[in-house]
Amino acid sequence: MALIAILPGDGIGPEVTAEARRVLEAIDPAFGFETEPVGGAAYLEYGQPLPPQALELAKRADAVLFGAVGDPQFDALARPFRPEAAILGLRKELGLFANLRPAKLFPGLEDASALKREVAESIDLVIVRELTGDVYFGEKGQRTTADGEREGYDLMSYTEGEVRRIARVGFETAMTRGRKLCSVDKANVLETSQLWRDVVIGVAADFPEVELTHMYVDNAAMQLVRNPGAFDVIVTGNLFGDILSDQASMCAGSIGMLPSAALNGSGKGMYEPIHGSAPDIAGEAKANPCAAILSAAMLLRHSLGRGDDADRIEAAVADALRDGARTADLGGSLSTGAMGDAILSKLG
Ligand code: NAD
Ligand code: IPM
Ligand code: MN
Repeated sequence: MALIAILPGDGIGPEVTAEARRVLEAIDPAFGFETEPVGGAAYLEYGQPLPPQALELAKRADAVLFGAVGDPQFDALARPFRPEAAILGLRKELGLFANLRPAKLFPGLEDASALKREVAESIDLVIVRELTGDVYFGEKGQRTTADGEREGYDLMSYTEGEVRRIARVGFETAMTRGRKLCSVDKANVLETSQLWRDVVIGVAADFPEVELTHMYVDNAAMQLVRNPGAFDVIVTGNLFGDILSDQASMCAGSIGMLPSAALNGSGKGMYEPIHGSAPDIAGEAKANPCAAILSAAMLLRHSLGRGDDADRIEAAVADALRDGARTADLGGSLSTGAMGDAILSKLG
Protein backbone atom coordinates (compact mmCIF):
# COMPACT_ATOMS: atom_id res chain seq x y z
CA MET A 1 0.00 0.00 0.00
CA ALA A 2 1.13 3.51 -0.73
CA LEU A 3 3.42 5.28 1.74
CA ILE A 4 2.71 8.98 2.13
CA ALA A 5 5.36 11.12 3.82
CA ILE A 6 3.95 14.00 5.83
CA LEU A 7 6.31 16.89 6.50
CA PRO A 8 4.16 19.30 8.55
CA GLY A 9 6.79 21.99 9.16
CA ASP A 10 6.03 25.15 11.13
CA GLY A 11 3.22 27.49 12.09
CA ILE A 12 -0.06 26.45 10.49
CA GLY A 13 1.70 23.68 8.54
CA PRO A 14 0.90 21.00 11.17
CA GLU A 15 -2.65 22.35 11.57
CA VAL A 16 -3.58 22.10 7.90
CA THR A 17 -1.73 18.85 7.12
CA ALA A 18 -3.61 17.19 10.02
CA GLU A 19 -6.89 17.90 8.20
CA ALA A 20 -5.48 16.68 4.88
CA ARG A 21 -4.36 13.48 6.56
CA ARG A 22 -7.86 12.89 7.98
CA VAL A 23 -9.24 13.22 4.47
CA LEU A 24 -6.68 10.77 3.05
CA GLU A 25 -7.47 8.29 5.85
CA ALA A 26 -11.16 8.55 5.00
CA ILE A 27 -10.40 7.85 1.34
CA ASP A 28 -8.38 4.74 2.14
CA PRO A 29 -7.68 3.47 5.67
CA ALA A 30 -4.87 1.33 4.25
CA PHE A 31 -2.63 4.29 3.34
CA GLY A 32 0.61 4.30 5.32
CA PHE A 33 1.87 7.57 6.81
CA GLU A 34 5.25 8.56 8.21
CA THR A 35 6.04 12.00 9.55
CA GLU A 36 9.29 13.91 10.08
CA PRO A 37 9.90 17.47 11.27
CA VAL A 38 11.29 19.95 8.73
CA GLY A 39 11.96 23.67 8.80
CA GLY A 40 12.20 25.55 12.07
CA ALA A 41 10.81 22.55 13.97
CA ALA A 42 13.67 20.39 12.68
CA TYR A 43 16.24 23.12 13.34
CA LEU A 44 15.16 23.26 16.99
CA GLU A 45 15.27 19.46 17.33
CA TYR A 46 18.26 18.52 15.15
CA GLY A 47 20.07 21.78 14.37
CA GLN A 48 19.20 21.65 10.67
CA PRO A 49 16.04 22.43 8.68
CA LEU A 50 16.22 19.35 6.43
CA PRO A 51 17.67 16.48 8.49
CA PRO A 52 18.84 13.38 6.58
CA GLN A 53 15.97 11.27 7.89
CA ALA A 54 13.40 13.72 6.48
CA LEU A 55 15.07 13.67 3.07
CA GLU A 56 15.37 9.89 3.21
CA LEU A 57 11.67 9.58 4.03
CA ALA A 58 10.75 11.90 1.17
CA LYS A 59 12.82 9.77 -1.22
CA ARG A 60 11.42 6.47 0.07
CA ALA A 61 7.75 7.51 0.12
CA ASP A 62 5.45 7.28 -2.89
CA ALA A 63 4.49 10.92 -2.40
CA VAL A 64 5.11 13.78 0.01
CA LEU A 65 2.55 16.03 1.64
CA PHE A 66 4.27 19.20 2.84
CA GLY A 67 2.77 21.80 5.19
CA ALA A 68 4.74 25.05 5.37
CA VAL A 69 8.00 26.27 6.89
CA GLY A 70 9.27 29.53 8.32
CA ASP A 71 9.08 31.76 11.34
CA PRO A 72 10.51 35.22 12.05
CA GLN A 73 12.56 33.79 14.95
CA PHE A 74 14.83 32.10 12.37
CA ASP A 75 15.20 35.02 9.95
CA ALA A 76 18.64 36.02 11.27
CA LEU A 77 20.18 32.56 10.80
CA ALA A 78 22.63 31.83 8.00
CA ARG A 79 20.61 30.84 4.93
CA PRO A 80 21.36 27.07 5.02
CA PHE A 81 19.91 26.94 8.54
CA ARG A 82 16.73 28.88 7.81
CA PRO A 83 13.48 26.90 7.62
CA GLU A 84 13.01 27.80 3.95
CA ALA A 85 16.15 25.77 3.15
CA ALA A 86 14.06 22.65 3.82
CA ILE A 87 11.59 23.24 1.03
CA LEU A 88 14.23 24.48 -1.40
CA GLY A 89 16.43 21.48 -0.57
CA LEU A 90 13.60 19.01 -1.08
CA ARG A 91 12.69 20.55 -4.44
CA LYS A 92 16.32 20.41 -5.58
CA GLU A 93 17.15 16.97 -4.16
CA LEU A 94 14.02 15.38 -5.63
CA GLY A 95 14.40 17.26 -8.92
CA LEU A 96 10.89 18.69 -8.63
CA PHE A 97 11.18 21.16 -11.48
CA ALA A 98 7.50 21.43 -12.43
CA ASN A 99 5.10 23.16 -10.09
CA LEU A 100 1.40 23.08 -10.96
CA ARG A 101 -0.62 25.76 -9.17
CA PRO A 102 -4.28 25.64 -10.18
CA ALA A 103 -6.46 28.63 -9.31
CA LYS A 104 -10.21 28.53 -9.72
CA LEU A 105 -13.13 30.10 -7.98
CA PHE A 106 -15.29 27.61 -6.11
CA PRO A 107 -18.99 28.52 -6.43
CA GLY A 108 -20.04 30.53 -3.40
CA LEU A 109 -16.67 32.22 -2.91
CA GLU A 110 -17.46 35.15 -5.22
CA ASP A 111 -17.71 37.49 -2.23
CA ALA A 112 -14.37 36.32 -0.80
CA SER A 113 -12.50 37.24 -3.98
CA ALA A 114 -10.73 40.58 -4.04
CA LEU A 115 -12.29 41.08 -7.48
CA LYS A 116 -15.79 42.09 -8.50
CA ARG A 117 -18.10 39.08 -8.69
CA GLU A 118 -18.43 39.06 -12.49
CA VAL A 119 -14.64 39.22 -12.92
CA ALA A 120 -13.90 36.67 -10.17
CA GLU A 121 -16.34 34.11 -11.57
CA SER A 122 -14.22 33.60 -14.65
CA ILE A 123 -11.00 32.49 -12.98
CA ASP A 124 -9.98 28.92 -13.81
CA LEU A 125 -6.32 28.68 -14.68
CA VAL A 126 -3.15 26.76 -13.91
CA ILE A 127 0.19 28.40 -13.29
CA VAL A 128 3.00 26.07 -14.37
CA ARG A 129 5.92 27.43 -12.38
CA GLU A 130 9.51 26.30 -12.96
CA LEU A 131 10.75 25.29 -9.50
CA THR A 132 14.44 24.35 -9.43
CA GLY A 133 16.15 27.15 -11.32
CA ASP A 134 16.13 30.92 -11.82
CA VAL A 135 17.30 33.51 -9.34
CA TYR A 136 16.37 31.11 -6.51
CA PHE A 137 19.27 28.75 -7.19
CA GLY A 138 21.85 30.98 -8.90
CA GLU A 139 25.04 32.17 -7.28
CA LYS A 140 24.13 34.49 -4.43
CA GLY A 141 25.81 36.37 -1.70
CA GLN A 142 26.81 39.69 -0.25
CA ARG A 143 30.11 41.39 -1.00
CA THR A 144 31.82 44.73 -0.64
CA THR A 145 32.23 47.00 -3.65
CA ALA A 146 35.41 48.93 -4.43
CA ASP A 147 33.75 51.91 -2.72
CA GLY A 148 33.38 49.91 0.46
CA GLU A 149 29.64 49.62 0.08
CA ARG A 150 27.84 46.33 0.79
CA GLU A 151 26.23 44.71 -2.25
CA GLY A 152 23.82 41.77 -2.49
CA TYR A 153 23.46 39.61 -5.59
CA ASP A 154 21.48 36.62 -6.87
CA LEU A 155 22.23 35.37 -10.36
CA MET A 156 19.22 34.81 -12.61
CA SER A 157 19.82 32.15 -15.25
CA TYR A 158 18.12 29.35 -17.15
CA THR A 159 19.62 26.76 -19.46
CA GLU A 160 17.83 25.73 -22.64
CA GLY A 161 17.19 22.30 -21.18
CA GLU A 162 15.57 23.72 -18.07
CA VAL A 163 13.26 25.91 -20.15
CA ARG A 164 12.46 23.14 -22.64
CA ARG A 165 11.28 20.67 -20.01
CA ILE A 166 9.05 23.15 -18.17
CA ALA A 167 7.70 24.45 -21.49
CA ARG A 168 6.70 20.89 -22.38
CA VAL A 169 4.82 20.60 -19.07
CA GLY A 170 3.08 23.88 -19.91
CA PHE A 171 2.00 22.65 -23.34
CA GLU A 172 0.99 19.22 -22.03
CA THR A 173 -1.08 20.85 -19.29
CA ALA A 174 -2.74 23.09 -21.88
CA MET A 175 -3.57 20.01 -23.99
CA THR A 176 -5.60 18.61 -21.06
CA ARG A 177 -7.54 21.87 -20.71
CA GLY A 178 -8.42 24.81 -22.94
CA ARG A 179 -5.35 24.48 -25.21
CA LYS A 180 -4.18 28.02 -24.53
CA LEU A 181 -0.71 28.65 -23.13
CA CYS A 182 0.58 32.05 -22.07
CA SER A 183 4.32 32.21 -21.46
CA VAL A 184 5.12 34.97 -18.99
CA ASP A 185 8.56 36.56 -19.02
CA LYS A 186 10.40 39.88 -19.04
CA ALA A 187 12.09 39.49 -22.40
CA ASN A 188 12.06 43.25 -23.02
CA VAL A 189 14.74 43.60 -20.33
CA LEU A 190 16.21 40.24 -19.29
CA GLU A 191 18.46 37.99 -21.38
CA THR A 192 17.30 35.03 -19.30
CA SER A 193 13.78 35.81 -20.51
CA GLN A 194 14.84 36.21 -24.15
CA LEU A 195 16.29 32.71 -24.08
CA TRP A 196 13.15 31.51 -22.29
CA ARG A 197 10.93 32.96 -25.01
CA ASP A 198 13.04 31.57 -27.87
CA VAL A 199 13.03 28.08 -26.37
CA VAL A 200 9.27 28.13 -25.66
CA ILE A 201 8.64 29.11 -29.30
CA GLY A 202 10.79 26.16 -30.37
CA VAL A 203 8.84 23.70 -28.21
CA ALA A 204 5.55 25.06 -29.62
CA ALA A 205 6.27 23.26 -32.91
CA ASP A 206 5.51 19.96 -31.14
CA PHE A 207 2.12 21.24 -29.94
CA PRO A 208 0.38 22.73 -32.99
CA GLU A 209 -3.04 22.48 -31.31
CA VAL A 210 -2.05 24.82 -28.48
CA GLU A 211 -2.45 28.55 -28.97
CA LEU A 212 0.74 30.13 -27.60
CA THR A 213 0.96 33.74 -26.50
CA HIS A 214 3.68 35.68 -24.68
CA MET A 215 3.20 38.32 -22.05
CA TYR A 216 5.54 40.47 -19.98
CA VAL A 217 5.20 39.76 -16.31
CA ASP A 218 4.14 43.28 -15.37
CA ASN A 219 1.30 43.15 -17.86
CA ALA A 220 0.43 39.62 -16.67
CA ALA A 221 0.06 40.91 -13.11
CA MET A 222 -2.35 43.54 -14.40
CA GLN A 223 -4.32 41.18 -16.69
CA LEU A 224 -4.67 38.67 -13.85
CA VAL A 225 -6.86 41.12 -11.94
CA ARG A 226 -8.42 42.78 -14.99
CA ASN A 227 -9.64 39.62 -16.69
CA PRO A 228 -8.33 36.36 -15.17
CA GLY A 229 -10.77 34.36 -17.30
CA ALA A 230 -8.62 35.12 -20.34
CA PHE A 231 -5.92 32.76 -19.00
CA ASP A 232 -5.96 28.98 -19.35
CA VAL A 233 -2.39 27.87 -18.59
CA ILE A 234 0.46 30.20 -17.68
CA VAL A 235 4.05 28.92 -17.88
CA THR A 236 6.68 31.00 -16.18
CA GLY A 237 9.91 31.03 -14.20
CA ASN A 238 10.41 30.38 -10.53
CA LEU A 239 10.24 33.94 -9.19
CA PHE A 240 7.47 35.25 -11.43
CA GLY A 241 5.42 32.11 -10.74
CA ASP A 242 5.82 32.54 -7.00
CA ILE A 243 4.49 36.08 -7.12
CA LEU A 244 1.70 35.56 -9.65
CA SER A 245 0.33 32.52 -7.80
CA ASP A 246 -0.15 34.43 -4.54
CA GLN A 247 -1.91 37.11 -6.57
CA ALA A 248 -4.10 34.55 -8.33
CA SER A 249 -5.10 33.13 -4.95
CA MET A 250 -6.85 36.34 -3.94
CA CYS A 251 -8.72 36.36 -7.25
CA ALA A 252 -10.00 32.91 -6.23
CA GLY A 253 -11.00 33.94 -2.71
CA SER A 254 -8.03 33.30 -0.40
CA ILE A 255 -4.47 32.16 -0.26
CA GLY A 256 -5.89 29.37 1.89
CA MET A 257 -7.56 27.87 -1.19
CA LEU A 258 -4.66 27.17 -3.56
CA PRO A 259 -2.95 23.76 -3.66
CA SER A 260 0.13 22.80 -5.61
CA ALA A 261 1.97 19.80 -7.01
CA ALA A 262 5.75 19.75 -7.46
CA LEU A 263 6.66 17.06 -9.98
CA ASN A 264 9.77 15.60 -11.59
CA GLY A 265 8.23 13.44 -14.30
CA SER A 266 8.73 10.16 -12.41
CA GLY A 267 5.39 10.01 -10.64
CA LYS A 268 7.00 11.07 -7.38
CA GLY A 269 5.75 14.42 -6.21
CA MET A 270 5.57 16.82 -3.32
CA TYR A 271 2.21 18.42 -2.62
CA GLU A 272 1.70 21.57 -0.61
CA PRO A 273 -0.54 24.55 -0.18
CA ILE A 274 0.98 27.61 -1.87
CA HIS A 275 0.70 29.58 1.38
CA GLY A 276 3.30 29.80 4.11
CA SER A 277 3.37 29.12 7.83
CA ALA A 278 1.21 32.18 8.63
CA PRO A 279 2.89 33.05 11.95
CA ASP A 280 0.22 35.71 12.56
CA ILE A 281 -2.52 33.08 13.03
CA ALA A 282 -0.50 29.98 13.97
CA GLY A 283 -1.80 28.09 16.98
CA GLU A 284 -5.23 29.74 16.85
CA ALA A 285 -7.01 27.06 14.78
CA LYS A 286 -7.98 29.76 12.29
CA ALA A 287 -6.14 28.46 9.23
CA ASN A 288 -8.09 27.41 6.18
CA PRO A 289 -7.21 23.74 5.48
CA CYS A 290 -8.70 23.70 1.95
CA ALA A 291 -5.37 24.31 0.19
CA ALA A 292 -3.79 21.40 2.06
CA ILE A 293 -6.81 19.14 1.45
CA LEU A 294 -6.84 20.04 -2.25
CA SER A 295 -3.09 19.32 -2.31
CA ALA A 296 -3.88 15.83 -0.99
CA ALA A 297 -6.30 15.46 -3.90
CA MET A 298 -3.52 16.41 -6.32
CA LEU A 299 -1.29 13.83 -4.61
CA LEU A 300 -3.83 11.10 -5.29
CA ARG A 301 -4.23 12.18 -8.90
CA HIS A 302 -0.61 12.75 -9.89
CA SER A 303 1.35 10.27 -7.75
CA LEU A 304 -1.03 7.45 -6.86
CA GLY A 305 -3.10 7.17 -10.03
CA ARG A 306 -6.34 7.72 -8.11
CA GLY A 307 -7.98 10.49 -10.08
CA ASP A 308 -11.47 9.35 -9.05
CA ASP A 309 -10.62 9.79 -5.39
CA ALA A 310 -9.13 13.19 -6.17
CA ASP A 311 -12.40 14.15 -7.87
CA ARG A 312 -14.31 13.02 -4.77
CA ILE A 313 -12.22 15.24 -2.50
CA GLU A 314 -12.56 18.25 -4.78
CA ALA A 315 -16.33 17.69 -4.94
CA ALA A 316 -16.49 17.46 -1.14
CA VAL A 317 -14.65 20.76 -0.79
CA ALA A 318 -17.00 22.35 -3.32
CA ASP A 319 -20.08 20.94 -1.52
CA ALA A 320 -18.92 22.16 1.88
CA LEU A 321 -18.23 25.65 0.50
CA ARG A 322 -21.59 25.69 -1.31
CA ASP A 323 -23.23 24.96 2.04
CA GLY A 324 -21.52 28.00 3.53
CA ALA A 325 -18.66 26.36 5.42
CA ARG A 326 -16.09 29.16 5.85
CA THR A 327 -12.94 29.80 7.83
CA ALA A 328 -12.10 33.40 8.80
CA ASP A 329 -10.10 34.14 5.64
CA LEU A 330 -13.29 33.39 3.65
CA GLY A 331 -15.40 35.60 5.88
CA GLY A 332 -16.65 32.84 8.19
CA SER A 333 -15.89 31.64 11.69
CA LEU A 334 -15.19 27.90 11.44
CA SER A 335 -12.04 26.57 13.05
CA THR A 336 -9.52 24.61 11.00
CA GLY A 337 -10.87 21.36 12.43
CA ALA A 338 -14.52 22.29 11.90
CA MET A 339 -13.76 23.12 8.27
CA GLY A 340 -12.11 19.71 7.99
CA ASP A 341 -15.23 18.13 9.53
CA ALA A 342 -17.48 19.92 7.05
CA ILE A 343 -15.45 18.54 4.14
CA LEU A 344 -15.25 15.04 5.64
CA SER A 345 -19.02 14.96 6.10
CA LYS A 346 -19.43 15.59 2.37
CA LEU A 347 -17.06 12.75 1.47
CA GLY A 348 -19.60 10.27 2.69
P1 NAD B 1 2.01 33.38 4.47
O1 NAD B 1 1.43 32.73 3.26
O2 NAD B 1 2.47 32.51 5.56
O3 NAD B 1 0.91 34.37 5.09
C1 NAD B 1 0.44 35.52 4.38
C2 NAD B 1 -0.93 35.93 4.95
O4 NAD B 1 -1.91 34.97 4.53
C3 NAD B 1 -0.97 35.96 6.47
O5 NAD B 1 -1.80 37.01 6.90
C4 NAD B 1 -1.59 34.62 6.83
O6 NAD B 1 -2.30 34.62 8.04
C5 NAD B 1 -2.53 34.38 5.65
N1 NAD B 1 -2.70 32.93 5.38
C6 NAD B 1 -1.77 32.10 4.82
N2 NAD B 1 -2.25 30.85 4.76
C7 NAD B 1 -3.49 30.86 5.28
C8 NAD B 1 -4.49 29.88 5.49
N3 NAD B 1 -4.31 28.60 5.15
N4 NAD B 1 -5.66 30.26 6.06
C9 NAD B 1 -5.86 31.54 6.41
N5 NAD B 1 -4.95 32.53 6.23
C10 NAD B 1 -3.78 32.20 5.67
O7 NAD B 1 3.17 34.34 3.95
P2 NAD B 1 4.24 35.23 4.79
O8 NAD B 1 3.56 35.83 5.95
O9 NAD B 1 4.86 36.09 3.79
O10 NAD B 1 5.32 34.18 5.28
C11 NAD B 1 5.34 33.59 6.57
C12 NAD B 1 6.44 32.55 6.63
O11 NAD B 1 6.10 31.46 5.75
C13 NAD B 1 7.80 33.06 6.13
O12 NAD B 1 8.78 32.50 6.96
C14 NAD B 1 7.91 32.53 4.72
O13 NAD B 1 9.24 32.33 4.31
C15 NAD B 1 7.18 31.22 4.86
N6 NAD B 1 6.60 30.68 3.63
C16 NAD B 1 6.66 29.33 3.48
C17 NAD B 1 6.05 28.72 2.40
C18 NAD B 1 6.14 27.24 2.26
O14 NAD B 1 6.62 26.57 3.17
N7 NAD B 1 5.68 26.66 1.19
C19 NAD B 1 5.34 29.51 1.47
C20 NAD B 1 5.29 30.89 1.67
C21 NAD B 1 5.91 31.48 2.75
C1 IPM C 1 6.30 29.03 -2.05
C2 IPM C 1 7.14 29.76 -1.04
C3 IPM C 1 8.60 29.39 -1.20
C4 IPM C 1 9.04 29.88 -2.57
C5 IPM C 1 9.56 29.91 -0.12
C6 IPM C 1 9.12 29.54 1.26
C7 IPM C 1 10.95 29.39 -0.36
O1 IPM C 1 6.93 31.14 -1.12
O2 IPM C 1 6.32 27.80 -2.09
O3 IPM C 1 5.56 29.69 -2.79
O4 IPM C 1 9.38 31.07 -2.72
O5 IPM C 1 9.04 29.08 -3.49
MN1 MN D 1 5.29 31.69 -2.43
